[in-house]
Amino acid sequence: MVIQWFPGHMAKATREVKEKLKLVDIVFELVDARCPLSSHNMYLDEVVKEKKKIIIFNKIDLCDRAETAKWKNYFEKKGYTVVYTDAKNSNNLNKVIDKAKEELAEKIARQVAKGIKPRAIRSMVIGVPNVGKSTFINKLIKKNVANTANKPGVTKKQQWLKLNKDIELLDTPGILMPKFDNQEIGKKLSLIGSIKDDITPLDDVSLYLIELLKQSYLENLNTLYKIDVTADDENVFIMEKIAEKRFKKIGGDYDYDSTIKLLIQDFRTQKFGLITLDSYADMVNEEVSDEN
Ligand code: G4P
Repeated sequence: MVIQWFPGHMAKATREVKEKLKLVDIVFELVDARCPLSSHNMYLDEVVKEKKKIIIFNKIDLCDRAETAKWKNYFEKKGYTVVYTDAKNSNNLNKVIDKAKEELAEKIARQVAKGIKPRAIRSMVIGVPNVGKSTFINKLIKKNVANTANKPGVTKKQQWLKLNKDIELLDTPGILMPKFDNQEIGKKLSLIGSIKDDITPLDDVSLYLIELLKQSYLENLNTLYKIDVTADDENVFIMEKIAEKRFKKIGGDYDYDSTIKLLIQDFRTQKFGLITLDSYADMVNEEVSDEN
């Protein structure tokens, strides 16, 4: 079974985001700091084109900082501005405003030179589901002046939230449907809650989680379940070790269903500690093998 999207649904969401994009000067793309590459919309650049963009690595409190820093570097090398945030705890949110002003400083200076009084910068948040877009908007507003205003020329439903005197934010985020041609990305998006569980083969996702953990976070895996597996052990064998520790056998067989749910739940409730799912080394290795 593979994870699939309904193209109609995706097309509608993309159309809506494109419409909103026309209204803004700068886009804040939120990605999950635990998998910045997998939760980044690869097609964003096609959609956003000439707009300024800032990539916000949200949920920085949950990731493995050393690994995620490699991804920050990767995106910066590609010319993106990256800001780390923990929206839940309102950490580093004003940095986003400062960076947005920096990004648009030249444009504003040009307007001033022409004698045009610059209007406030208009921004919007976009990202795949569950990366923290609503939390980010709500916390940013609470942290700043909560001043909502209807502006002429803007659809009634849309409101501009004033972040400070220089910058406004669209009150509703643009939801990007995850688009991927690689099932591994789909499985990571499932783990971070961007894809609904009912369209996901959770057995595959949990085995994939075991694979990622045994490669990069073996100790966390062994410690949590009080097992003693190695990276050479088969994923199904590891799952059975966990089942043995945690659940009674059913009719002489391991309780795979409960173990699958447990693994996914434990990831989503941070029982494995600080984890980054996107492995930078894996990406580099793939690029090298593509070249050969
Ligand atoms: P979305 O609009 O992009 O779909 O995401 P939303 O803001 O609804 O956030 C999804 C979940 O992620 C929420 O948790 C939210 O609290 C959590 N979240 C958002 N930003 C951060 C962050 O920087 N760090 C951490 N640790 N969590 C973050 P939830 O479990 O769905 O709800 P609740 O725990 O807030 O009740």
